[in-house]
Formats: sequence, structure tokens, C-alpha cells
Amino acid sequence: MSALHVKTKGKAEEKQHKSDTEKFCTTMIKTEILSETDKSADLEIPQSRKHKLSPDCEHVSKVAKYDNEEDALSASTSVPSDLTTSGNNEKSNDKSNTGRSTDNTVLVADHYNMLEEKGLSFRNQSRIVYMRNFNNWIKSMLIHEYVVKLKQGKSFGASLRVLDMCCGKGGDLLKWKKANISHLICTDIAQVSLEQCQQRYSDMVNRKGSKDRGFAPIFTAEFITADCTKVRLREKFADPSMQLDFVSCQFAFHYSFESLPQAECMLRNAGESLKPGGYFIGTIPDAYDLVSRWQKCDGNKFGNDVYSIEFICEDKTKPPLFGAKYNFHLDGVVDCPEFLVHLPTLRKLASKYGLELIAFERFDEYYERFKDEGRSLLGNMQALETYPPYHETPLLGDPEQDYQHAVRYMQNLPANHRKIGTLSQSEWEVTSLYAIFAFQKMKTIWNSEGKPEYVKL
Ligand SMILES: C[S@@+](CC[C@H](N)C(=O)[O-])C[C@H]1O[C@@H](n2cnc3c(N)ncnc32)[C@H](O)[C@@H]1O
Repeated sequence: MSALHVKTKGKAEEKQHKSDTEKFCTTMIKTEILSETDKSADLEIPQSRKHKLSPDCEHVSKVAKYDNEEDALSASTSVPSDLTTSGNNEKSNDKSNTGRSTDNTVLVADHYNMLEEKGLSFRNQSRIVYMRNFNNWIKSMLIHEYVVKLKQGKSFGASLRVLDMCCGKGGDLLKWKKANISHLICTDIAQVSLEQCQQRYSDMVNRKGSKDRGFAPIFTAEFITADCTKVRLREKFADPSMQLDFVSCQFAFHYSFESLPQAECMLRNAGESLKPGGYFIGTIPDAYDLVSRWQKCDGNKFGNDVYSIEFICEDKTKPPLFGAKYNFHLDGVVDCPEFLVHLPTLRKLASKYGLELIAFERFDEYYERFKDEGRSLLGNMQALETYPPYHETPLLGDPEQDYQHAVRYMQNLPANHRKIGTLSQSEWEVTSLYAIFAFQKMKTIWNSEGKPEYVKL
């Protein structure tokens, strides 16, 4: 845990406000907050959970056996192009979903379609603005990390084609622009969101056109309204033969774990879009942490002043592999059903589509790894709150309760370290639930029966 601090020498400098401060002001937060939150040893987050089962994981893993993971996975055959029109898959959907027949994708689409675009100034007033910015920072670093990896093997100026699955209103358009990609395919189930995404893209093109005449054009883009858990996306691409370098699915993949066919469809969409060596990256809630918190609470509901999660499953000791449903409410941002993503199942299913899991890292670990490299971006994106606050910018969290970790942290700093960047404890409890993942597309070989098999590159 480290903190960067503003070297404040006097009142005059103090007035130099946020942008300057935050450029230099990185965090601390994590372990302090976690230890504050998790008094019991078993909620403590290990240094590295990459590819490891924590005690909680093992528990979930054992639970998975009750649901007969092998049977569930081998029962699935191939996923048709469009599950919505397939009677057969409706059946298998029911089966793997342990009898649930409700389709939550409709709820999800309605929910996101109804979310208004509230604009930057509204978002800046939100109680969770720093957490949202922090999550955005994580996405920026993740995209950057894998774009760099990919570019290493390519010649300068080579094309870079990307599928943004569940792109929402286009919150990552600027990140793709910065990554200098050549083509972007945006898909989402919520048509209204996708229209806003398309509008944002047009605005970007127009801005770019008026500023940079004569320079390289911004990436080209196409927009597809589709349920990525039920529709074969490749068939909808403007050029269905196109091979992509990247598939990104940010804060959305967990919707697919409603049922086995939906998870398979989403993974097949990612796998069959990619060239060998290409990456499928994303962010999802860490099911182990979710289950751990659920098991520690009385009843099925837990949370704090910025979030609440209510599990709809019957038995917290035996969540099913698919359809382990919970409602996630986050300060007016998300309030619709989500599903636990059991990591060993995800890994196994993905391998069926030639995707090899190469990273699974919780946000706290990811932050720790990239905080130095991404320091100036943390400041530019205002991804951390300044503590103690400047007079004109009061703290967004509860000053008495939400910053005790920061108070303690500062006690160990030299006296001239007057400001640090942090997140309130309530926000940290939410963001620390999430993890990044990355898969790499393996090489396809065709066996004697004409079926694809995948081998490491
Ligand atoms: C939390 S938002 C994330 C949006 C964007 N990826 C981001 O990071 O800003 C989740 C998005 O997933 C979309 N989504 C959920 N289920 C989907 C599905 N089955 N097919 C396509 N999009 C879906 C929602 O409409 C919503 O736009």
C-alpha cells in the first residue's frame, strides 16, 4: 500500500485545486479499507488470488459438484445462431437453469433502455463519482495493457479491429480512440443505449473532422442491437468474414450466466470473432467474494449506503452453476438481476471456444500492479477523492465513518504529506467486489472429423 501525497507548502498551494492535486495524489486505500471492513480472518483478501482458489473458492467449487458440473457442461452441444428462435435450446435453457423459466434479459434490456443519459455535470454530483471514475481507470488500464501486448507482435500502423460486447452508451469509445484502433463493432441488447453510443461516436467523428483535417481518420464503427447471449453476432457483422483482434465485455458478462446456453453463446461470440492470439478482456463481479459476503450476512441481503445486493437463490450453501441470481442496487445506477460467474466453469466453457484464461485479477490487485504506471491517469480521470478535502469540495462520504482508513494512513506519513487520494470505505466495498479477466484465443486445428480443436500458440 502506498500513497502519493501533495507536497503542500502553504495556503497558496492549497488553493491550486483538484486537477493539480490529483495529478500527484494517488491512493492507498485498499488494504486499510479491507482490514477495516473484514475483521474476521477469512474475509481477508490474499495477496494474489490469480488463478487460485481461496477457501471461499474451494467452497463454491465443492458446491458446484452438487450441481454436477461435468454433466451440465457435457450436456450442452452446440449453440445455434439465434437462441430466441430455437425450441431445442429453450429446453436446454430450462434444464441447466434448474427449472427457472423466466428470462431476465428482457428485464435487463428494459432497465438499461430506461436509464436516462444524465450528462457529465449530473454524474459529477453523484455520491459514487470517484468510484465510477476509478472503475473507468481500471478499464482504461486493462485496454491499454492488452493493446500494448497485441501491438508488440504487429507492424506499425497495422489495423486493430475490436468488438465491444454490451457496449452500453459507449463509455469506452474514447478509450478505443486512444488505443488507435481501426474498426469497432458495438453491440448491446438495449437499443436506446446503443443509439446514444452511435450518437457519441458521430459527435466524436465530427469533432475530430473539424479539428484534425488531414490527419488519420478516427476508427470506423458499426452498431448492432442484439442479445449477445442468444444471437450469433458474426452473422450480423457488416463483413461476417472479419477476424478481430479484441473482444471487450465490460461490466456485463455476468448477465450471461443466467443459463448454460446463454453463457456458451456469449463465449462462442467472443471466441469465434477472434484471430489466434487475439484477446477477450472484461470486468465482472468476483463470485467468491459475493458468496463470502452473502454467507456472512443474516438472510440474503447485504450492503452499505451506496450499494445493496439481495440473493434470490434459495440456499446460500449451494448456489447453482447457472442462474445463481441476485439483484444489485448501486446508487441509482444498476438495479437488475445479475448472476454469479463460477470461475472454474467459465474457464472450462471458454476453452471449448478456443479461449484460454490468462488472467483473473481482483480490482485491488490490478490497481496495485498498475498504480505507478497509471498515476497521472488516476489524477486526470479524478479517480480518487482528495483527503483531507479542500474547503470548497466537501467529502462525498460520511466524514466520521468513511475515511478512518485515510486518517490512520496519514498518521504514518511525514508531516509535510498533507493530501492523499482515496475512495470512501463505502465505495471501496463495492469496487473491490470486481475483477478483471483476460482470455487469449488459441490456434485452431481441424481434426480428422472436421471438428475444430484448439492448441496453445
Ligand atoms: C453495466 S452496463 C456496461 C456498459 C459498458 N460495457 C460500460 O462498461 O460502460 C451493462 C450493459 O450490458 C448490456 N447487456 C446486458 N445483457 C446483455 C445481453 N444479453 N446482450 C447484450 N447486451 C447486454 C446492458 O444493456 C448494458 O448496456
